[in-house]
Amino acid sequence: MAQIKRIAVLTSGGDSPGMNAAIRAVVRKALSENIEVVGILRGYEGLIKKDFIPMNSKSVANIIQMGGTILKTARSEAFKTVEGRRIAYNNLIEENIDALVVVGGDGTLKGARALVEEYNFSVVGIPGTIDNDLYGTDMTIGFDTALNTVMEAVDKIRDTAMSHDRMFFVEVMGRDAGFIALRSGIACGAEAVVIPEVETNMNELHEKLLGYMNKKKTSSIILVAEGDDAGGAFRIKDALLKYGDDFDMKVTVLGHIQRGGSPSAYDRYLASRLGIAAVEALLDDQRSIMVGMIHKDIVHVPFNKTIKHHKTIDETLLRIVDILNT
Ligand code: F6P
Repeated sequence: MAQIKRIAVLTSGGDSPGMNAAIRAVVRKALSENIEVVGILRGYEGLIKKDFIPMNSKSVANIIQMGGTILKTARSEAFKTVEGRRIAYNNLIEENIDALVVVGGDGTLKGARALVEEYNFSVVGIPGTIDNDLYGTDMTIGFDTALNTVMEAVDKIRDTAMSHDRMFFVEVMGRDAGFIALRSGIACGAEAVVIPEVETNMNELHEKLLGYMNKKKTSSIILVAEGDDAGGAFRIKDALLKYGDDFDMKVTVLGHIQRGGSPSAYDRYLASRLGIAAVEALLDDQRSIMVGMIHKDIVHVPFNKTIKHHKTIDETLLRIVDILNT
């Protein structure tokens, strides 16, 4: 077993529901092993600015049900620089911290890998992002809650879409990934789903929607992943306008509502399991790995692997969307 007396924990990148449950599990598992825990505020920014707070069992009381992150979060430009990481490492050493647990997405894990490579410091990552776009885990913390948020919103949109015989383009998050759009599309009975992983053929999409209208479907919901710089739903709607049909089209952008809210039971469970697994991994002398869950089992995925590989979309799910509209 590794000699670990003091660890630090931070959350970084876009927040996701369940991050608090993960912090709670890290803190309580560490305390149960007589390891001290320091919380770092605002992710890698706080690491550079030495924004550290002591944590005990009470500091994580009553947070399992809270969205957001009590440690706050940021996207740190400074940590992307060699100088920023040098300051960060010195702060860890000055505070006698033996190892670090980071909760976040792809950017967070890249930062963690740099710290391991440059300073051989022990870091374990926990996948926390609503996008579910990390290789090496079936689900990331926050994805399930975000799906439920989208589903509830789209159910409401469907009421008004039906009443007015309208076609709604609902934009959901996912800059590079269509996991939210695809999974919630099935859960909401969407008529079509547009995702960045699959090039959209506008003629085919138009034919499909026209077909539904001809079958006397008077309203439709099309879920669109935001894409590179958001605005994806507006682009699709504008492209369809050119066909000159008399569809009554509206766009709703769900935006940051998808990042908030009380975590679902599944996200609380996943975060609790992964938080404990992260501390166990450190005690097992692991470094430079992300803990994940595949088929209900805890797995250790090297940072190099999860960063290099892209989690792929299951394209059969797109076909399922079509089948369910037969
Ligand atoms: O990575 C999570 C995510 O919510 C993406 O889906 C989205 O594109 C991005 O963060 C938005 O980031 P920000 O809140 O910094 O604008």
